[in-house]
Amino acid sequence: ADNRTFTMIKPDAVENGHIGGILDQITASGFRIVAMKLTHMTKRDAETFYAVHNERPFFGELVEFMTRGPIVAAILEKDNAVEDFRTLIGATNPEDAAEGTIRKKYATSIGENAVHGSDSDENAQIEGAFHFAGREMF
Ligand code: CMP
Repeated sequence: ADNRTFTMIKPDAVENGHIGGILDQITASGFRIVAMKLTHMTKRDAETFYAVHNERPFFGELVEFMTRGPIVAAILEKDNAVEDFRTLIGATNPEDAAEGTIRKKYATSIGENAVHGSDSDENAQIEGAFHFAGREMF
């Protein structure tokens, strides 16, 4: 549905103890949690999930990072979810992220940037379905 987006709290933010702070900011901003779990992506999972980036110079680093430890995967619901969530998380590079955004507060670098947010309704659907079965969505 067009009112949903997909997010991951990435290994850096999980390691640094920010699951609670990030989820609090997400729900306080009006997003409803439709599906959620702690999970650990395999190398193959990460290579598939990020296949669109496989020609990029940072692809190996990205796969290494995303498989370093557990993540929180979630599907979120709100009017205008994709766009509003990208505003909430801020720019990919935390140095460019607006004050108060999740990446400004919790990210450490352009690679280790704390959270993922889908960039389109189509990708939100694909990414949510990658991590969750229909019976896990509420
Ligand atoms: P995200 O936008 O969630 O998905 C693609 C990810 O690739 C991005 O977050 C960053 O984690 C990573 N990424 C993008 N650009 C770079 C870069 N220049 N160096 C390292 N990682 C990057």
